[in-house]
Amino acid sequence: MPLGSTRSTIGSFLLIGAVVGGAAAAFAYTGGWLSPGRLTPPKLVDALAPPTGPALGYRRNHAKGICFTGTFEANGAGVPLSKAQVFAPGRYPVTGRFNLATPDPKVVDATVRVRGISLLLRTPDGEEWRTAMINVPFFPVATPEAFYELLVASGRKDDPEAMKRFASSHPEIAAFGAWAGSAPYTQSYAEERYNGLNSFIFTNASGNEHAVRWALLPAAPPIHVSVEDMKARGSDFLEREIGERVAAAPQRWDLAVTVAEQGDPTADPSKAWPESRRTINVGVLQVDKVVPEPDGPCRDVNFDPAVLPSGMRTSDDPFPAARSAAYSVSYNRRTSEADLYPRTTTEKMR
Ligand code: HEM
Repeated sequence: MPLGSTRSTIGSFLLIGAVVGGAAAAFAYTGGWLSPGRLTPPKLVDALAPPTGPALGYRRNHAKGICFTGTFEANGAGVPLSKAQVFAPGRYPVTGRFNLATPDPKVVDATVRVRGISLLLRTPDGEEWRTAMINVPFFPVATPEAFYELLVASGRKDDPEAMKRFASSHPEIAAFGAWAGSAPYTQSYAEERYNGLNSFIFTNASGNEHAVRWALLPAAPPIHVSVEDMKARGSDFLEREIGERVAAAPQRWDLAVTVAEQGDPTADPSKAWPESRRTINVGVLQVDKVVPEPDGPCRDVNFDPAVLPSGMRTSDDPFPAARSAAYSVSYNRRTSEADLYPRTTTEKMR
């Protein structure tokens, strides 16, 4: 083989080696193998599991839930904020899910403090907006890393001081503790206010940008119940109640968008914005039909909060990206375990 050709062969091998080595290093970095202390999405998802391990086939958090279908009717008031079609006057289909913030799909409803709603809104331009919101007025901690530390500390049953140490290094948790200990429970998913908590940037047709948060405000007046009352209503009373209520009449919420002012803490969902901020009702969510999760259209949906239409994007809030990565891990795990998810007879026969 001539010298020039030998050199070029060696050069090709070196190049291939560099490409393969680079790809392996990228995988190792992404997987967290190069820095075991780094917080990775799988670590975050593992930390959500109870000591007995996760419920296979189910969401790794908010595992208990029920699907619904309905519509979002935009009134046009959101158009000056965002060019997303979902705010243009019109009625758009929604697939959603009422849920409880627990990794246990068989939990007794009365024992769960945090309730959630998940929405997937579709518009004729082919875009989608996915959002998952909770009834808490602020998130317990300021960063995804602190959320991981909270999960680890609360799982340390062998170390009663772990939570105290966590609370002294993350004082923002006190506000959540006060809310959890004093806020009344409602008797229905339909009576909850659901808060998006994370901040996003809306861009309108002229290119103007605003930092916003959003919330769903229930039309149904809240009726407060004690934990004992809820226990007496049965383990799954929330699912039973919402099914009966929606079968009798559609349930509605106003979608309220709150606009930040200079200096509002957009990067920290543990801090509420002042009550005086401009809030605009941009339309009405209507839930028309409730469907049990095994047969429902939401079971295989990942309500990834970073799936946004043009006219909406993430802000300096680190949570949506961390959530997106964690939800993807949870989604991949639960769908690969789909055989372990209890199906109805009809589905098994298919
Ligand atoms: C770093 C912080 C967070 C982590 C690691 C996390 C983790 C998860 C995971 C793994 C799931 C299951 C996803 C699936 O299998 O499809 C989930 C669902 C959910 N999360 Fe989070 N979450 C976080 C923050 C939040 C926040 C800030 C909110 C509310 C503002 C929220 C509300 C929800 C709701 C409502 C669901 C149910 C979604 C569904 O129905 O599929 N989460 N979360």
